[in-house]
Order: sequence, then structure tokens, then C-alpha cells
Amino acid sequence: MKNVFVKTSNYIRFQEGLAAVEGRGAQESSLLLVTGEAGYGKSETVDQWAVQVGASYLRAKTDWTPRYFLTELAENLKVDPSGRSKDVFARVSGYIGRNQTPIVIDEVDHCLRDNARVLEAARDLSDLTEVVIVLVGMEKVQAKISKHLQISSRIAHVVTFCPATIDDVVMTCSQKCEVKVARDLAMEIHRQSKGRMREIMNAIALVEREAQLNGLEEISLKNVVNRQLTLDWQSTGQRTLVNGGR
Ligand SMILES: Nc1ncnc2c1ncn2[C@@H]1O[C@H](COP(=O)(O)OP(=O)(O)OP(=O)(O)O)[C@@H](O)[C@H]1O
Ligand SMILES: [Mg+2]
Repeated sequence: MKNVFVKTSNYIRFQEGLAAVEGRGAQESSLLLVTGEAGYGKSETVDQWAVQVGASYLRAKTDWTPRYFLTELAENLKVDPSGRSKDVFARVSGYIGRNQTPIVIDEVDHCLRDNARVLEAARDLSDLTEVVIVLVGMEKVQAKISKHLQISSRIAHVVTFCPATIDDVVMTCSQKCEVKVARDLAMEIHRQSKGRMREIMNAIALVEREAQLNGLEEISLKNVVNRQLTLDWQSTGQRTLVNGGR
């Protein structure tokens, strides 16, 4: 599998969300919320943006406290994480303000415990520095965050990740797979994966192996008839290829 990032329709939606936050009127409304079901490609998309723009990318943990969050952020920015919370906050906000370093908090669902104390700390940082903070979570996180008005009122835009389209799957197969994938097989990958990028990756790895085993330069539906292409544990017998495909 080739190590490339594919610019899918969700990537375009994310770029539009960023543009909306960057063009916002109220400077303190600097939060961008990214939501969607598991495996749709949220982390990969936001992470490749973070690398590109030099943002600080953090993955929230279940046991995060405001102090733990601040320590991880300081370490990530290579700022001294020692001393009193107040001092660490001052150093981190000073650094972020000077460098305008955006922040990503992935798995933000973990930040809602204890009246969302961790998110309140992130909000304090964004109020002070006006940098963009991207929050990434599962599809239900938006409703949970909306209960915290101080935070939800600062969300400038919400990007909802959707299942990959057929065009996304065709593009992903052509850019990531080491062998050519025929359109009929890409359509079957789309059907079995239900548009989940994680399952699309599993399917591509499987068809790649199949093609290499059989010395094929191009692989099509007829080469994998009756094969389950995805590993989804929730799958039912319905998802296995039927003879002749679709
Ligand atoms: N645009 C893309 N280009 C290349 N690979 C991608 C892309 N989107 C997703 N992937 C790959 O698909 C898999 C699932 O993506 P990812 O982990 O980003 O999903 P997620 O939405 O964050 O899932 P979860 O909600 O479980 O955290 C990963 O292996 C990732 O590398
Ligand atoms: Mg993720």
C-alpha cells in the first residue's frame, strides 16, 4: 500500500470548515468541531493538516485533567512543563500567542468529564491567544458539547465526516493500491465498507495481496468473488460477495 494521503470529499469539507473559521467575525469563536462515525478518516485528515501547518496534535486520554492536558501540550510544544499550573499556562499561552500555533484535540469525547473542565482550559487558551483549536470526536459529541454554552458558543463551524463516496473509493484505490483496481471492484469495496476508510484500507490490503499472489497487474471483481473484503466485526453474512458481484 502506498503511503499517501487521499484528498477525499471529507478532506474538502474539512478545508471549507477551516476557511470558515479563519474568516470568522468574532475572534474568540475559534473552535472547529469535527465529528463523524468511527473509521471515516477524521484523525488522518486532521493529523495531515496539523503536520502541514505545524499545529500541536494531542489525543485526549480518559484520565485527562486540565493539568495533565496542559503538561502534554507544553511537552508537545517543547515548552517547560514544570512548576505550578498557573506558570505552565502562562508559558504555553505565551508560546502559542507568539507563534499562533493551532491546536488539535482528538478523541475530545474524553474531555467532557467533570463539567468539561479540560475543554474549559482549552477555551481559556483560545480566548487568550485567538488560535484555531480543532476538536475531533464521535458523532454524538456535538450534542454533548452543546450543553456547555461557554464552549459551544465559540464553535465557529462543525464539519461532519460522511461515508466515502464511490468517487472517493475509486480515487483511494488508484492512489493507495500498488495494483490497478477495476471500477467494478472499487464499487464492491464501497458497498462492503459502507464508506468507512478503515475498512477501505483493509480491503485494499487484501486485494493487493490477492493480486500479488496471482501475479495480476490489474484486479477486478471476478478475481475476488465470494470473498469478504472487510474485517468489520459487526458485519453479517449479507456483506460477503455474492457470485457475480452487486
Ligand atoms: N484521506 C485518507 N488518505 C489515506 N488514508 C486515510 C485517509 N482517511 C483515512 N485513512 C486511513 O483510514 C484509517 C481510518 O482513519 P482514521 O483513523 O483517521 O478514522 P477516524 O475517523 O479517526 O476513526 P475513529 O473514530 O475510530 O478514531 C486509518 O488507517 C487511516 O490512515
Ligand atoms: Mg480517530
